Amino acid sequence: MKKYLIFLFSLSVFSGISQTKITLNTDLAKTKINKHIYGHFAEHLGRCIYEGIYVGEGNTKIPNTAGVRNDIITALKDLKVPNLRWPGGCFADAYQWKDGIGPKANRPKMVNVWWGGVTEDNSFGTHDFLDLCERIGAEPYLAGNVGSGTVQDLSDWVSYVNQPTGSPMSDLRIKNGRKEPWNVKIWGVGNEAWGCGGNMTADYYANIYRQYATFMKDITPESKLYKVASGASSDDFAWTETLMKNIPHNMMSALALHHYSVLSWVETKGPSVGFSEATYFKTMQEAWKMEEFVTKHSTIMDKYDPEKKIDLIVDEWGGWYDTDADGKGALYQQNTMRDAMIAGLTLNIFNNHADRVRGANLAQIVNVLQAVILTKEEKMILTPTYHVMKMYNVHQDATLVPIHIESPSYQFGDKKLTAVSASASKDASGALNISLTNIDYSKSQEISINLRGEDFTKVSGQILASGKISDHNTFEQPNKVAIKDFSGAKLDKGVLKLTLPAYSVVVLNVKK
Ligand code: AHR
Repeated sequence: MKKYLIFLFSLSVFSGISQTKITLNTDLAKTKINKHIYGHFAEHLGRCIYEGIYVGEGNTKIPNTAGVRNDIITALKDLKVPNLRWPGGCFADAYQWKDGIGPKANRPKMVNVWWGGVTEDNSFGTHDFLDLCERIGAEPYLAGNVGSGTVQDLSDWVSYVNQPTGSPMSDLRIKNGRKEPWNVKIWGVGNEAWGCGGNMTADYYANIYRQYATFMKDITPESKLYKVASGASSDDFAWTETLMKNIPHNMMSALALHHYSVLSWVETKGPSVGFSEATYFKTMQEAWKMEEFVTKHSTIMDKYDPEKKIDLIVDEWGGWYDTDADGKGALYQQNTMRDAMIAGLTLNIFNNHADRVRGANLAQIVNVLQAVILTKEEKMILTPTYHVMKMYNVHQDATLVPIHIESPSYQFGDKKLTAVSASASKDASGALNISLTNIDYSKSQEISINLRGEDFTKVSGQILASGKISDHNTFEQPNKVAIKDFSGAKLDKGVLKLTLPAYSVVVLNVKK
């Protein structure tokens, strides 16, 4: 017997296959996975807004609606983007929203001090953004300027977009062509206040937050504000502690957190394509840190808010590499199967923390950092990250099924990471959706999923996999990495069995 087990063990090691055991506790499902976990982020940075989203109404061969590319509108509608954060990022704390309304020819220009010192002509402003959100069915998330703008400016912005009639700001909006208010609910009160948002201390920002938030008014029941306090960077737990202690809880709907999977902030971040396994492993280490950060920030929040009334919103996350020479400050990078791994793993972490993580925004939506879409003149491609976000959107607003997972490690040198991550949810029809990501560089995983007696009979699935970890889509080969049907999962007596290839993502749908 012992010999047989040793034989089996060596067979799996040498054939590059490991075993993962998962148990789904469907009977304990109660927490909603807030669809806003699947949010996106668009900043005036590089070619995200200009060229990427907005090409202007005149003088372009690219088909557009009010200046916004039609191919982008279609792709974002298909993706089911629940919310879109704008105009930054760092840019938000330099943005003067009043310069971005009214006739475009009269709009003042500014210098984008954070991103390459380029001239910003303000041709994409509040109306353009909020109309885009309506077109793609996303809730707008406006990031207010607290670093360099006044309390009055931010209070006026709320009034401009939410007051039906009868205020100077609503009159101005109506004069500018929009009769009905947009009812914008989600508002960031500054961004990265510890850094580009003003280099504030946590104590100082907590006071500033209280001041700005006081003058951001709920105008109608349809536009009750959801205010997000500028949150910590990665492991700055003291920031979270101070804000939870010093900001009255009835003034704050959510606290943010930013964490990027980046190798280094001071030295090279490595290329977006053509990276070594050592670099890949480090990126995965950074991605897995999200589990620790979300857990620890949540624990601090629990101390002050045991009823979990305040949400944790990870409103910037994703992979960050050296820019692919797309211009100064542009942060353009290719998107490979490594990014698909970051996305699959991170979304599983967020889903599994749905009791506190109730929103997130991938940075950024087009042509910047871990983009879901890349454009080149009239061409547009969907990245591996787009495909993962699309496969996972079955979890939006579904009920989280608590999961127990025993996964082998992905080992590199003497370092180890958990190879398989997973999350599961039950949708309104009673079907289960299970998402699985195997980050291992070379080993497949034999997965068995115990459904604990639930009498499901049908299983179908989708897979994102490719021959090399650096595989990506290009303008010449836009479908090299694409979603395929997956029929490799077999259901037998309440147990699902499948093989999950190295660096792949699978989403299964299981029905009665
Ligand atoms: O997403 C790029 C930048 O990263 C954002 O502007 C800023 O908030 C963060 O530091």
